Amino acid sequence: MTVHQLIYYSRNKTPGDDRTQLINLREILSASQRNNGRDGITGYLIFDKSWFVQILEGDRAKVSETYTRIARDTRHGMSTVMNTRDVAERSFPEWTMGGAMRSIDVQEVYLSHGFGGPIDPTKVKWEKLFALALDLNEFERTRRSAHKQAS
Ligand SMILES: Cc1cc2nc3c(=O)[nH]c(=O)nc-3n(C[C@H](O)[C@H](O)[C@H](O)COP(=O)(O)O)c2cc1C
Repeated sequence: MTVHQLIYYSRNKTPGDDRTQLINLREILSASQRNNGRDGITGYLIFDKSWFVQILEGDRAKVSETYTRIARDTRHGMSTVMNTRDVAERSFPEWTMGGAMRSIDVQEVYLSHGFGGPIDPTKVKWEKLFALALDLNEFERTRRSAHKQAS
């Protein structure tokens, strides 16, 4: 059984300050977790204020159905598929949809991938964004388990 992976970027169309953006992102993630859990989809969402980059993985038909629904969402535009492929196993098995807004806490991860300033996904190879998502996910996981051990 292979897993289908799709990576796309899109431009955020929701206006507002950081707080509004965070509320917006939480709404997106909660709908995603509900639907993706039902559809066997996992993945990761990078949000860097003006841009979204999302990886969806799962059954090919479900991934494509989910992407079609997402692409129609008016909260973003210019949705562009960067790559699709079949892989042997999931890269984000623990998340029905993981993701975080870019913040100072994770800046070191962005820096280690050469993203000092805002990401412009129209100028970056999908492989670089995929690698960033994997590291952001790993960073968050390590931080969570450190919290658990401390409490
Ligand atoms: C950047 C972005 C990413 C999204 N990702 C997902 C997703 O992974 N899964 C999902 O079901 N909906 C996602 N959505 C939301 C969908 O566009 C849509 O609003 C939602 O699936 C509708 O769900 P509902 O019919 O349960 O209300 C995303 C929306 C945006 C703007």
